[in-house]
Amino acid sequence: MSDSVNQNPVDDPLDAGPTPKLDLRSVEKSFGAKRVLNGLDLTVDDHDVVCLIGPSGCGKSTILRCIDLLDPIDAGSILLDGVEIAGPGSRGTGVGANEVRRRIGIVFQSFNLFPHMNVLQNVTLGPRRAHGVSRSEAESRARELLDQFGLGDKEQEYPNKLSGGQNQRAAIVRALMVRPEVLLLDEVTSALDPELVGEVLGVIRDLSDQGLTMVLATHEMGFAREVATRVAFLHEGWVLESAAPAQFFADPVEARTKQFLHRVSQAGRL
Ligand SMILES: Nc1ncnc2c1ncn2[C@@H]1O[C@H](COP(=O)(O)OP(=O)(O)OP(=O)(O)O)[C@@H](O)[C@H]1O
Ligand SMILES: [Mg+2]
Repeated sequence: MSDSVNQNPVDDPLDAGPTPKLDLRSVEKSFGAKRVLNGLDLTVDDHDVVCLIGPSGCGKSTILRCIDLLDPIDAGSILLDGVEIAGPGSRGTGVGANEVRRRIGIVFQSFNLFPHMNVLQNVTLGPRRAHGVSRSEAESRARELLDQFGLGDKEQEYPNKLSGGQNQRAAIVRALMVRPEVLLLDEVTSALDPELVGEVLGVIRDLSDQGLTMVLATHEMGFAREVATRVAFLHEGWVLESAAPAQFFADPVEARTKQFLHRVSQAGRL
């Protein structure tokens, strides 16, 4: 980890607690005339597993993309360990996009593995190209992770020879290669056949047990209930309600949250 990251913490005299791992403050984001994030506040503490839930189009993926600096925010700020990485104060902190993406990994719904590369090549490419890791170091880390995630015998396979669940596990391995401090997961099970969902959820559960800080966009309420330390329900561009899963699912406060959970329940997904 670079020493530069803690050199410019943003002082907040009102916040006496420990510095959150991630802190989104009044974040705004529009696409054209459509305001997607509308003054969104969200904090994620070390070892938290925060599940973002809400109807399709409410902005879950947008939040993850903004955190990983794939989409610029229009207003507000995003802090990593108290250092602004997006927003007006982010210039001159010494924490650029490359460092942010090394410290915050992201896994997408659609895997995004390169079809012309085998698993080993796919997972070692980023660390070697973007982060200057040597081939032998990258391959040894890759083999360790592929073993850990049940892909030890698949390193020479190409993505089209793997199941969806195996592809998704390879995509998660790729994100873990550079030992991120935070992992963002965007609907990582929704492209999978139901019988493959369980194996990927098992991997996420293992990562949670290992203490990795994660933010997940998910439609899997059962999983959110089981693995989340906190569930955040998005509505109209901000977090309408956020609570520990036991409380959130058993006793939601807001009428809109109740309505959402009712619909999810009627669809048999709760
Ligand atoms: N690149 C883009 N250009 C224009 N509009 C976009 C873009 N990305 C997202 N949007 C719009 O922003 C809104 C939020 O999209 P987002 O993908 O964040 O929703 P989501 O909560 O992840 O939905 P889902 O559950 O379907 O994945 C949607 O109305 C979407 O159409
Ligand atoms: Mg999405």
